[in-house]
Amino acid sequence: MSVQTSSIAATIADAFADRLLAWYDRAARDLPWRIAPNSDELPDPYRIWLAEVMLQQTTVAAVAGYFARFTGRWPTVVDLAAAEDADVMAAWAGLGYYARARNLLACARAVVAHHGGHFPDSEAALRALPGIGDYTAASVAAIAFGQPAVVVDANIERVIARHRWIETPLPMAKRDIRAALAPLVPTERPGDFAQALMDLGATVCTPRGPACAICPVMADCRARGRPDIERLPVKPPKKAKPHRYGLAHWIEADGKIWLVKRPAKGMLGGMRALPGGDWTDVRPAESGIVSVDHGFTHFDLTLALVRREAPTEGASEAPDAATEGGWWPIAGLDAAGLPTLYRKLTDKMLERDA
Ligand code: ADE
Repeated sequence: MSVQTSSIAATIADAFADRLLAWYDRAARDLPWRIAPNSDELPDPYRIWLAEVMLQQTTVAAVAGYFARFTGRWPTVVDLAAAEDADVMAAWAGLGYYARARNLLACARAVVAHHGGHFPDSEAALRALPGIGDYTAASVAAIAFGQPAVVVDANIERVIARHRWIETPLPMAKRDIRAALAPLVPTERPGDFAQALMDLGATVCTPRGPACAICPVMADCRARGRPDIERLPVKPPKKAKPHRYGLAHWIEADGKIWLVKRPAKGMLGGMRALPGGDWTDVRPAESGIVSVDHGFTHFDLTLALVRREAPTEGASEAPDAATEGGWWPIAGLDAAGLPTLYRKLTDKMLERDA
């Protein structure tokens, strides 16, 4: 590139960042982990990291309550590192993707053990921590440490794919999107820049019905005015999801039910659950008292609830000595930390009994 073309590229990049940041100064969403746009200070890395982990695969609206409860109960990474595993898993219940909660604790403990209780400030050192992938490392480096990292989440993918009219289907398009975005990242305010793109994708450049008329970067957007703008980013063809079936056991005695802890590895690992058999491709012969359908990322599940007898020895004995379990008062099931799948099932059962 000649000196002249590279300086033109730099000017275009500045113009993009300037327009976007001026918009962000006016229109930034007020979110619990954020500080005001264009602040002299940087936000608390612990809060940024926690929000980013919670926000993976989950919406801002779903995360807000969890974020408040976590930071209220564990205000620093040192507090979280010292928490009991079971308390953190129960507090995470309902957010889904429970491996994230296990990694969250492992990461907090690594920050305490290897970094003196302070998150490292480089993308590479963040990436080396448990549960921190490329995206989270880049977003924490940019937002909490002001590093000019290239942050690409699903909202940003959409904004850039449209602005540059990148028609390659995802995930192949990721490389082109990153290459288009990298030269636009400013050295000043890279954290605000990343969050501005996230907000633009969430509120203006939406999947359906984007509000191009109020977009701060519409002047040079290749998608502007195109009737087929919603086609981008092009998604890969959807794979058919397999269907699985399972039975869960309702074992009741003296106003309590028997709950188990699922094995640490595998689906809903380490979470409290109703006991039951394996989930298989075969619809069980026994029909349940109630059943629920639940979508996981890689399969759909129909889980039916069947009654099983409590052991005659009394309420202190484990019905299934092989699994870690215990009696739980039915009136206090809200506090059991059951993942959504089991909550749906117990809610249905209790509604039916009511
Ligand atoms: N989605 C993922 N990270 C986010 C953030 N920091 N702000 C808003 N939305 C987000």
